[in-house]
Amino acid sequence: MIDLFAGPGGLCEGFSSVVDAAGERRFAVKVSIEKDAVAHRTLLLRAIFRKFSKGKVPSCYYDYVRGKLTREQFLDHPEIKEAAEDAAREARCAELGVTSSTEVDGWIREALGNQTDWVLIGGPPCQAYSLAGRSRLRSKDVQKFESDAKHFLYTEYLRIIQEFAPAVFVMENVKGMLNSTNSGKRIFEQILSDLKAPRDDLRYEVRSLVVHKTEGELEPNDYVIEADDHGIPQSRHRVILFGIRSDVAATTSALREHPESFLLCKQPQKIGVSAALAGLPQLRSRLSKEPDSREAWIDALRQSPQTLKGWRVPLRSDIEAAMVKFIKKAEKQTTFGAPFVETTVVPGGCMPKDLQNWYLDPKLGGVLQHETRSHMRSDLHRYMFAACFAATRKYAPDLYDFPPRLLPDHVNVDAETIPFKDRFRVQLGQFPSSTVVAHIKKDGHYYIHPDPGQCRSLTVREAARLQTFPDNYFFEGNRTEQYGQIGNAVPPLLAKQIGEIILDFMTSPRRG
Ligand SMILES: C[S@@+](CC[C@H](N)C(=O)[O-])C[C@H]1O[C@@H](n2cnc3c(N)ncnc32)[C@H](O)[C@@H]1O
Repeated sequence: MIDLFAGPGGLCEGFSSVVDAAGERRFAVKVSIEKDAVAHRTLLLRAIFRKFSKGKVPSCYYDYVRGKLTREQFLDHPEIKEAAEDAAREARCAELGVTSSTEVDGWIREALGNQTDWVLIGGPPCQAYSLAGRSRLRSKDVQKFESDAKHFLYTEYLRIIQEFAPAVFVMENVKGMLNSTNSGKRIFEQILSDLKAPRDDLRYEVRSLVVHKTEGELEPNDYVIEADDHGIPQSRHRVILFGIRSDVAATTSALREHPESFLLCKQPQKIGVSAALAGLPQLRSRLSKEPDSREAWIDALRQSPQTLKGWRVPLRSDIEAAMVKFIKKAEKQTTFGAPFVETTVVPGGCMPKDLQNWYLDPKLGGVLQHETRSHMRSDLHRYMFAACFAATRKYAPDLYDFPPRLLPDHVNVDAETIPFKDRFRVQLGQFPSSTVVAHIKKDGHYYIHPDPGQCRSLTVREAARLQTFPDNYFFEGNRTEQYGQIGNAVPPLLAKQIGEIILDFMTSPRRG
C-alpha cells in the first residue's frame, strides 16, 4: 500500500489489520505521506508499532505511551531502533504539491520495487468541499475560494496514479465533494472522469463499495458509505471510491460473476455510544474561568436545577428530578483522568466480543489519553440539562428545547459543520454518535457525554473509541492536536472491512 494524505493513519491502520489465518498481515504500508508534523509523529509511531507482530510489541512502546520514556529514549531503545529506522523510510513528513515530485516518486519507486499488484489509498483534504467549510470560505472571498489549491489537491493523488498505475485505489472524501462546484462545474464529475482516464493509455473502473450497479448506472450518492451500517459506533457518511485498473478488472472473472461479493456487508445491529465507551473509567470534568476543585465542580452542578426557572413546560419536573438524581451520582466522581489512567478495562457484556478484541490490549494496563476538559460553569449547566433531557426523553435536545436561562448570550455560529441549533449536542448511549469531525478540537459542546453524572464532553480516548481506534493507538501532540487528528481519520475498523474486500478482489484468480 501507498497512503497519501495519511493523517494519523486511520485508513492504513485498517488495511494493515487484515490478517490471514496465521495472524500475518496481508497488506504492508510501503510509503505513507503526511504534511502535518504532529500527525506525522503519530503515523510514524504507529508504523513502528506495526513492525512487530501481535503480542510481540516491546514493552518500551508501552512505557513510552504511558509517559515513562521520552520520545528520544524510546526511539533510541535497542529493541526499537531497527523498527524505527524502517518506519522512517515508510512514514514520510512531506507536503504533496510542494515537496518535489522527483523526491516523492523516488520514495514510491524504491518502495514498490517490481511490485505491480499494489493499492493506493488516501483522502485528499476536504476543507474546500466540506459543506460548511465551503460556505465559510466562499463567504470570505469568492475568488480566493475558486482558486484555492485545496480543491485541486486530489490532482496530487491523480498524479501518483498517472505515474505508477496501481492495480487498485481507494479514495476517501467528505460528502460535500459530491455537490461542490468550481467555476460552475461539479468538482465530483471532474474528479471521477480524471480518475477513470488518468492517461490516454490508462483506464480505471470506479466502483461503489456499497451499491451493486454497473459503472454507468452509479449515481454520486451511491459512493457514500454510512459507517454506522458497518459496526462503527458513529454516524459518519463519507464518499469512498474503489478504482480498479481496467486490465485487472477485465481479467478478474469474479468481478462479473459475483460482483456483490465486493461490497461491504451491512451489519444487523448498530453499535451505540455506550457499547463503544464501555469499560472506560468514569470521570468528572473541570471548571474553567475559576479555580477548579472537586467541591467547586459539584457546587456548579448543584446550581443546575435553578437554571430551569421560568421554563414553563410539563417536562420540567422530570428534568429536575433527573438532575437531582445525577448530581448525587456526580458527587461520587473522584478523578478527572490523566494522559494514562492505570486500571483494568472490563467492558462487560455491553460491548460485543469482537469489538472487545478490536479495542482492548491488556498489555496497556490502563487507558491512554483519557483526561477531561475544563468547562465554564454556564456550560456545565447546559451539559447537565442536555444529558438529563436525553436520559428522560431518549432524544437529544436542540437549542429550541433549552430553557431560556440556558440559551447562550452571544451564539457563536461556527458553521464549520455544526448547525447552530445543535451547538450543544449530547450523544445518546444507545445510538451511534454523530460524526466526529476535527471541530471537536475547538470545543466539546457537540460531543457531550451521555452520562449526566459525569457532566462533560468526550475525552480524546472516547473520541478515538467512536472512531474505532484500538486503545493502544497513541496520538501525538497536545490535546487539541490529538482531537484534530482523530476527527480527520477514516475509522480503522471500517477501513479494515474495505481492506478485506480489496484483498478478496486482489487474490481472486485472473485470466491470462
Ligand atoms: C482527511 S485527513 C486524512 C486522514 C487519513 N486518511 C486517516 O484515515 O487517518 C487529510 C490529511 O491530509 C494532510 N494534508 C493536507 N495537505 C497535504 C499535502 N499537501 N501533502 C500531504 N498531506 C497533506 C492533512 O494534514 C490531513 O492530515
